[in-house]
Amino acid sequence: MEINVVEFDKIAREVFAPIYPVIAEQIIARTGINKGCCLDIGCGGGYLGLALAQITELEMVLFDELAEMLDLAQGYIHDRGLESRVKTLQGDVHAIPLPDGSVNLAISRGSLFFWEDQAQAFREIHRVLAPGGMTCIGGGFGNQELLKKIEKEMLLRDPDWNRQRRQRVVKSRAADYRAKLEQAGIKDFEIKQDESGLWIIIRRSA
Ligand SMILES: C[S@@+](CC[C@H](N)C(=O)[O-])C[C@H]1O[C@@H](n2cnc3c(N)ncnc32)[C@H](O)[C@@H]1O
Repeated sequence: MEINVVEFDKIAREVFAPIYPVIAEQIIARTGINKGCCLDIGCGGGYLGLALAQITELEMVLFDELAEMLDLAQGYIHDRGLESRVKTLQGDVHAIPLPDGSVNLAISRGSLFFWEDQAQAFREIHRVLAPGGMTCIGGGFGNQELLKKIEKEMLLRDPDWNRQRRQRVVKSRAADYRAKLEQAGIKDFEIKQDESGLWIIIRRSA
């Protein structure tokens, strides 16, 4: 996957920063899970997982396929003094290097657009979920107000930003995700689409 790690991290730090605590609160409100093991899939610099770790007792695993992203994330774990509860793990969502049933909460923001075989990725995520475990996987900017602010700032940096974002949104249709989840054999899920973005909630029965 093509991603400029340094450039993406700069934007996450300088522009996207306010969205992560808001999305972390939304994840807790949607899942009610605030302890156990949490996997942040395609974590990038780890901002969402770190925001969630700061307001819960979750043991966080920041997971990404790129070592450079995880090197940055490791620095941010250290800066926030969260080494005892937040670890990094390198790997591909299509073959998650964790045992069956080992994750209580799987979160992911802005990564699924890049997954080559989403049905296989959903199958893997479902496999690692513990009984009673849930997911909150999708993309968005927290709420309309934050989206507007980010849009304004991003258009100053990159006039093409909105076109690229719309392309991702068009590719990100609830009906397509529903088909991929069904293809993966997952029955208990819902897809929420509102001003917070599009989020897939999977439940693994207890
Ligand atoms: C747009 S960034 C989002 C980063 C972070 N979640 C955020 O919201 O700031 C997408 C991330 O997904 C990761 N990624 C893409 N495909 C992946 C895969 N197959 N397995 C694991 N990580 C992947 C990329 O390396 C990148 O860090």
